[in-house]
Formats: sequence, C-alpha cells, structure tokens
Amino acid sequence: MPPVLVLGIESSCDETGMALYSGSEAGGRLLAHALHSQVSMHADYGGVVPELASRDHVRRVVPLLRQVLADSGCRLAELDAVAYTQGPGLAGALLVGAAFAEALATALDVPTVPVHHLEGHLLSPLLSARPPRFPFVALLVSGGHSQLMRVTGVGEYALLGETLDDAAGEAFDKTAKLLGLGYPGGPALAALAESGRAGLVRLPRPMLKSGDLDFSFSGLKTAVLTRVRELGSLGDQQRADIARGFQEAIVEVLVGKSLRAVKQSGLKQLVVAGGVGANRELRRQLDAQAARARIAVYYPELEFCTDNGAMIALAGALRLQAGVSGKPAGAFAVRPRWPLTGI
Ligand code: KG4
Ligand code: ZN
Repeated sequence: MPPVLVLGIESSCDETGMALYSGSEAGGRLLAHALHSQVSMHADYGGVVPELASRDHVRRVVPLLRQVLADSGCRLAELDAVAYTQGPGLAGALLVGAAFAEALATALDVPTVPVHHLEGHLLSPLLSARPPRFPFVALLVSGGHSQLMRVTGVGEYALLGETLDDAAGEAFDKTAKLLGLGYPGGPALAALAESGRAGLVRLPRPMLKSGDLDFSFSGLKTAVLTRVRELGSLGDQQRADIARGFQEAIVEVLVGKSLRAVKQSGLKQLVVAGGVGANRELRRQLDAQAARARIAVYYPELEFCTDNGAMIALAGALRLQAGVSGKPAGAFAVRPRWPLTGI
C-alpha cells in the first residue's frame, strides 16, 4: 500500500488537537502536531463547561490547521484522508471537529476516517521511539474510562475488565476537589502527594482482591470525604498526607490489576494510556513491579498521554493501512457514548 498522509483532529473534550501523520508499511512518521488546551478557560468554573468547550474548538481549528501545515511544509492538496474523533465525548465538542473534518474532506475530495477516542489513546504508545508490538495488554486510564483490554491488532480489542463506577481520572479529579484543589485535579493532587508522608493515611484498596479484572473507585473518594469530615479543618501537611494516601491506594489497585491481567493473558507486554498514565507514582510502581515479573511496560510520550491530535491521525492512518476503508466525506454523526468493543 502506498504511503498515506492523514490529518487528525481531536475535539472530544477540552483540548483541540491537530496533527499530520504519514503512514507507510515501512513505518510511519508524525510530521507535525499542535494543541490548544482550554484548561485555563474552564478553571474559573471548576470543571469543563460543554458549551464553552464547543465554542472554543470553533475558534481553534483553523489556526491549528494552518500551524501543522506550516510546521510540516505540507499542502492541503497532499492529504489522503482526514481522521477525527467521532466519540465518545461531549456531543457539541465532537460536532465541531466532525463538521470541520467532513467539510474539509468534501472540499478536498478525500475520504474521512471517524476514530474512536480510546483507540487513539490505546495506540498512542506506537508514536514513541520504542513502540510495543501486537499483541499486548493495555491499561486505559482517562477522565472518563478505566479499562483493561487485550489488543491483538488494529481494531482488535477485547475487554478484560473495567470500572464499575468512577473512572480513575474522575476519582483523582473528585478527590482533588474535596481537598480544595482546582481543575484539572489529577496533576494537582499528584503534585500535592509528593509532599505527603508515605503510609500515614491508609485508605481502602477497592476490589484489589476481587479475583476479577474490574475496578471500583467511588468508595475511595467517599473514604477521603469521610476522613476530611472527621478531621474538620485541614492543615497543609494533612491535606498532603491524604493526597499521598489516596494516590498510594489507587496506584496499588491499578498496578495489581494490570499485572494480573498480563499474567492471565500469557502475554509479556503492558501498554499504559490515557491521562492518568502521566502519573509519576503509577509509572514508578508499575516499572518496579513489572520488571520483577519480567513484563515490559510501554507508555506514550508524556505529551501524548493526555488528549491530542497525533493519536487520532495515527489511529486513522493505521486503520487505512489495516484495510479499513475511509468513509466518503459528507454526511456524519457523532457518538458521545460508544463502547470501544463496538467498533
Ligand atoms: O485522557 P485524558 O486527557 O482525557 C480523557 O479522555 O478523559 O485524561 C484526563 C484525566 C483527568 O481526569 C486528569 O485529572 C487525569 O487524566 N490526569 C492525571 C494526571 N494527569 C492527568 N491523573 C493523575 N496524575 C496525573 N499526573
Ligand atoms: Zn482522552
């Protein structure tokens, strides 16, 4: 198959991502990528405001497209396909990326590749200099999802386990809020945990010994709430100790279940993807315990852990190379709720 030049557009939540990826059988290459984060815009509200997110995506898509074209030296006429996040995510935000992609592809007379956002996350470690090879087990931990998957190839994803309630990122964000930290809570809580004392605040490890590969994190958040209420007003050190205790608990569960999943699968590779994959303590613990079990762990580059356009352009190119044909540009629908195993 000849090389394919794919534009990737991500707009499922609070980041507008744009990237150009050149896929070829000999190996692909990311030519350019650009990102606009809306974090500072939503910070005043303590969380993502969907309507503001959609309007901001509208403002960003054209400048970001110009930027990746300028950075890569490519021309629009060279594009073979336009990939975009079709779901899951915020309906209005998805509609902006989808409408822009379909209109652009119509004008250029090229097909579009609607991409599942989690597939983008799942494949993002393939962008790194030392990529994993299929098959592998993937731990997908984002703001909206916590799943363990067996990945056999592009588009071949079997669900091994998932959260029964809150996602890992959601648990970080909600716990951060309880501790008076701003949005997004995950990175702020992780930073505070660095100054907390190890082992001082002992919180439950939900479902660690459940025997299956599912997670549950809402009880952990409630345990923090109970602890905060018991203590009344919190000093800085107490807040840091709780943050540390929370991070220790959630990391122990994620590491324990991930290693169990790899052992049960008989495979030797674990891929970690999604925003929580940026957590340093999670990486430290996983690296240490996986090394002992002779399991190789792969992470996306830090900039590709959270939402970005590069993973969407990559997923689009890999789908085309795997023989999945693009769709004729034009009519489209977004899928705010969409299980990964349904693709
Ligand atoms: O993958 P992502 O950017 O967006 C979704 O698809 O949801 O993940 C965002 C989530 C948020 O919940 C954020 O708090 C969390 O990832 N996150 C972190 C860290 N960086 C981002 N959680 C823990 N530690 C971090 N360093
Ligand atoms: Zn994401």
